[in-house]
Amino acid sequence: MSQGPQQATGEDLKMQEALKRSGEIPGHIAIIMDGNGRWAKKRGMPRIAGHNEGVESVRDTVEACGQLGVKYLTLYAFSTENWKRPEEEVSLLMRLLLRALKDETDRLHTNNVRIQAIGDIAKLPTEVQNELIDDIAKTKNNTGLTLILALSYSGRWDITEAVKRIVADVKSGKLAEGQISEELIGSYLSTGNVPDPDLLIRTSGEFRISNFLLWQLAYSEMFITAKLWPGFRREELYEAIRSYQKRERRFGMVSEQLNRDGYFNRLIKSVTGP
Ligand code: FPP
Repeated sequence: MSQGPQQATGEDLKMQEALKRSGEIPGHIAIIMDGNGRWAKKRGMPRIAGHNEGVESVRDTVEACGQLGVKYLTLYAFSTENWKRPEEEVSLLMRLLLRALKDETDRLHTNNVRIQAIGDIAKLPTEVQNELIDDIAKTKNNTGLTLILALSYSGRWDITEAVKRIVADVKSGKLAEGQISEELIGSYLSTGNVPDPDLLIRTSGEFRISNFLLWQLAYSEMFITAKLWPGFRREELYEAIRSYQKRERRFGMVSEQLNRDGYFNRLIKSVTGP
């Protein structure tokens, strides 16, 4: 029986309420989950143990984002480049992903989470593809957090695919060359219906984008933590949001413009979406 969305309790609820009062909760958070292997190595464990614990971090982060009212959470779960890892690790990761989807989707559904995927999904094992198709269909009408799994994804792949589709549409006459604009290119990307990330979090202390959402991250605020992904829990998420709330997002303008009659704030909203 459905129990309705999970609520935070006790100290955690207090922290979430404080976070909601202290500023804006980012509408879209994107995360580069890095450091699973190093986390395991430090403990003398196989790499897969790090990925396993990483699933716990995913679970806690998704739950906290849902409770805070974050609209979109995009997780870089498997990059195009990750296919180059040893076959055994790729296969274990795919099995772990399949298991996580099978185990978690009902709970996500109960919590009003909508699951989506971006990337070259056709490259994934058939079982994973089928599970994703089912989970996306099952949760498609949910109105809470949208969880976007980037799988077999890279930013360059995304842009390349968009260019191919734009060229095809120009050739077929569906699109005129003069219609090509930044907005149109954005709409042809795999995130076409999703506002750009407000906040990018990267774990394990690396200062890299690693071919993630190259186009979409143009104006995102970045938060880099030394924590390895398996050690990342909601407290680190709250810290990232607190840091985000202290930033002034100028989108290339000057500070004074942003504060004038709220005009520019409305302008920014019209560009970045709700
Ligand atoms: C990066 O750590 C992590 C990955 C390549 C995989 C992330 C996958 C999960 C957390 C599990 C499945 C995901 C979901 C959405 C259920 P790394 O292996 O690159 O670590 P290292 O840099 O220390 O070697």
